[in-house]
Amino acid sequence: MVSTAFANIFFSDPDGIPEKQNGEKRIFEIPSSGYYICKALMLSAINGGSVNTNISARNKQLKPYLRLMNGQQNHWEKIYSTKQPNEVSWTQEVPKTSLDFVHNANLDKSANIIDIGGGDSKLVDYLLDEGYENVSVLDISEQALNRAKQRLGDKATKVNWIVSDITEFAPTTSYDFWHDRATFHFLTTEPQIVRYLSTARQAVKENGTVTIGTFSDCGPKKCSGLDIKQYSEETLIAKLQNGFEEIKCLTEDHTTPFNTTQNFLFCSFKRHDN
Ligand SMILES: C[S@@+](CC[C@H](N)C(=O)[O-])C[C@H]1O[C@@H](n2cnc3c(N)ncnc32)[C@H](O)[C@@H]1O
Repeated sequence: MVSTAFANIFFSDPDGIPEKQNGEKRIFEIPSSGYYICKALMLSAINGGSVNTNISARNKQLKPYLRLMNGQQNHWEKIYSTKQPNEVSWTQEVPKTSLDFVHNANLDKSANIIDIGGGDSKLVDYLLDEGYENVSVLDISEQALNRAKQRLGDKATKVNWIVSDITEFAPTTSYDFWHDRATFHFLTTEPQIVRYLSTARQAVKENGTVTIGTFSDCGPKKCSGLDIKQYSEETLIAKLQNGFEEIKCLTEDHTTPFNTTQNFLFCSFKRHDN
């Protein structure tokens, strides 16, 4: 039987053709059989749109197909379903540099902290152990967050878990501390970077802190098989010149589980209204 479903599809690719840019909502009436749903979504993607998986269609059947069409999310779900922490380069037993930046911010234990692209990093474990009460972890991969939740057991209920592409994140709260290790550098187009920074500007409190770790200009050019954008201290500060003031930058060699090194740049910034 072919019944009818309505899918709200947001064209959110700013590089797309003008009539389909940024958040324009189109409602498609499509047959709810998998084949037609898949085909409709494929056509929308080919036509310059991307499917916002937060906008779940009224018909639950659509969800797997929405996911299927989101290439980035698919990539990361596959990574976290097939590789163990010791098989990916970014794993750290102790996220020491990130913790140092948190400590330098002199936060209250009630501060709102968010880890962007936190994956299954142990940063959240350390923050909970230190008594931080309002920690959020955002990642495009649900599987990554499930792994972190499983590891944390009962403590996982203390964390606000958010499955979202950071470029589509619509924060409903404001943060004292925004942390990102090795996620920002996956944004390789200017519109993605602009969207990320505008979200951070909006979500981080006045005088709040943003800490971003990327591969440096002496680091790798790819991560997890994907192209990344390297930064130097100058280029990262320039990117954040609107609304952020540099506090501190440093570079460090991260030793991967395979005993290779990756040179990272970390910079922290204070949020201020220009
Ligand atoms: C290299 S890993 C780093 C994970 C973690 N920050 C750490 O240091 O261990 C990059 C992470 O960013 C997530 N990610 C990639 N693109 C993203 C996006 N557009 N929005 C949200 N998360 C994203 C991936 O799922 C992955 O967990």
